[in-house]
Amino acid sequence: METIYLDNGATSFPKAPGLGQAMADYLDNNGVNINRGSYQAAASAANGVLETRELLGELFHYRKESHIIFSAGVTQSLNLIIKGLLKPGDHCIVSAMEHNGVMRPLVQMAAKGVTFDRVPCDRRGRLVLTGLEELFRPNTKLVVMLHASNVCGTLMPIAKVAKICREKAVPFVLDAAQTAGHIDINMEELGLAALCFPGHKGLMGPGGIGGMIVTPSLAAELEPLVAGGTGSHSESEEMPPELPERFEAGTMNIAGIFGLRHSLQFIKNQSLEAIHHKEMILTACFLDGVKRMDSIRIVGEPGMANRMAVVSLDFLNRDNSEVAFQLAEQYGIMTRSGLQCAPSAHKSLGTFPQGTVRFSFSYFNTEEQIDKAVEAVRALA
Ligand SMILES: Cc1ncc(COP(=O)(O)O)c(C=O)c1O
Repeated sequence: METIYLDNGATSFPKAPGLGQAMADYLDNNGVNINRGSYQAAASAANGVLETRELLGELFHYRKESHIIFSAGVTQSLNLIIKGLLKPGDHCIVSAMEHNGVMRPLVQMAAKGVTFDRVPCDRRGRLVLTGLEELFRPNTKLVVMLHASNVCGTLMPIAKVAKICREKAVPFVLDAAQTAGHIDINMEELGLAALCFPGHKGLMGPGGIGGMIVTPSLAAELEPLVAGGTGSHSESEEMPPELPERFEAGTMNIAGIFGLRHSLQFIKNQSLEAIHHKEMILTACFLDGVKRMDSIRIVGEPGMANRMAVVSLDFLNRDNSEVAFQLAEQYGIMTRSGLQCAPSAHKSLGTFPQGTVRFSFSYFNTEEQIDKAVEAVRALA
């Protein structure tokens, strides 16, 4: 049976062609650390890491490469910011669509005296923007929000949110887990305080690598969560003030960074526009196929406006987890059922606790695969 991977919201597959070889090249032919050795191989590894930062800077329109920090991914970046910034007595604002990557560190901080509010979202996952301004308090220190929902693909009005945050002089941190590598994100134009990105989703790189871009003003407020050797200022037992080292203690996932360099180069060669265009064609094709089925509710935006290539369906007469299991067993179609690590989003969308079946498409899917998925949905509904 041919398998069809429609779980790109979790992680992309296939990855950028040649990714494994790019990582193997580093591991087999270089394999050394950066910032520590004075030999040629170390300089060459450091150069590869710098080139990856440059590609990221180009992609997200941010010219200060030193402020592009590598981490294991969005979750680690969000923890770095939420726990590194907020102190007891501080207040934080999030949306009611957040992933647990935001909610769990925030709830941990709530146990230490941080308070937070969620901006309400409607049943299509749209942010109720008028609700945002009312939530600011004198002690509001941070606004964190996802760019697009990992449950239903709905986009947040981040330019408007960023403008309000600038007026209130509160840093706005973007979780770009579902948009990085899919659409253009201009960090400078938006005036974001930080942007958290995964390497393994839209950037088509390996798991375990991602990062954050952080402005100097927010970086100055952040306590490094992880302390240790950086290969710089070794006379001191305190973390160095310079970025990126301040937030990159210990030996990094350099093989992952080399993989990411390769996949970023692939995305650049294809162009973001071409990637987005293809993903939107596939999404339109899927939505068109399922929209007239009575026993299904399209969760989130029903049409093509204001969305990414992530579609959640609620099978009204079926158990959604069983449907996902049958899609895999009988049709070879890989999806994701349940709550997709976002219980808050499902409460907004009216799909808690049953969850949904999520279909998420990539540049590498074909219209033929989408047609097969539509037929399978029709048969199982
Ligand atoms: C909206 C959102 N935020 C955060 C994450 C966590 O990202 P990572 O796997 O890079 O830690 C995900 C991953 O599913 C996500 O979809």
